[in-house]
Amino acid sequence: MGAIQETLVHPITIAPSLLSCDFANIAAELERVEACGGDWHHVDVMDGHFVPNITIGPPVVEKIHAAATAPLDVHLMITDPRKYAKPFAEAGAHVLTFHLEVAPTRQEVLDTVDAFRDAGVAKVGIALNPDTPVERVGEHLGDVDLVLVMSVDPGFGGQPFLADTLTKTAWLREQGYAGHVEMDGGLNAETLPRCAEAGADVLVAGSAIFGADDMAGTIAAFRRAADEARR
Ligand code: DX5
Ligand code: ZN
Repeated sequence: MGAIQETLVHPITIAPSLLSCDFANIAAELERVEACGGDWHHVDVMDGHFVPNITIGPPVVEKIHAAATAPLDVHLMITDPRKYAKPFAEAGAHVLTFHLEVAPTRQEVLDTVDAFRDAGVAKVGIALNPDTPVERVGEHLGDVDLVLVMSVDPGFGGQPFLADTLTKTAWLREQGYAGHVEMDGGLNAETLPRCAEAGADVLVAGSAIFGADDMAGTIAAFRRAADEARR
């Protein structure tokens, strides 16, 4: 067993992205995706500033939390994550992830991580856009529970997977990073196993899961393929 495999202690987590669900029937969608085997609900928060799209804020996350059983994996695509640490933690975020691009210095990362931990979230994550070199997260690896490697430019579901980003995940495992590595954007039957093979353990999929005719079969197949790919 090589160095990369030795760090893969986390079971595969499938995190369906609610961005592709039917928001008019959110409670039913949460129940359906949990019954079909989704592990975490991936919640995309966009502010129309860091990304050109606007989604939901803390009051809606709070309603999702009240209706959900599975943990909420809250991905903040917003310019000022520190300001909203407490509202999202209180709304029920289990994982709370901010983007390195909005906290570009060591001190800003530390302040943001502190704000998230003080707010009481279980896990703190840091995300990287496809254009951001992965080496830039190197000095922060000891401070975060999860690194989110974006495999599309953030803002919209349904975009094609950027395969170059796989090398970032592999790099994180080569550094011996033993936290969660999450990949998000363009994951489907073809690309999701490649993410697991590179070392990702949290796999986000929106359109491929909510757009599937057989949601349970799709999630089960994703998990099987991911488990096989990391062997
Ligand atoms: C994109 C979001 C993703 C998105 C993934 O900005 O961060 O979570 O919902 O959607 P798919 O799986 O359709 O690419
Ligand atoms: Zn996301």
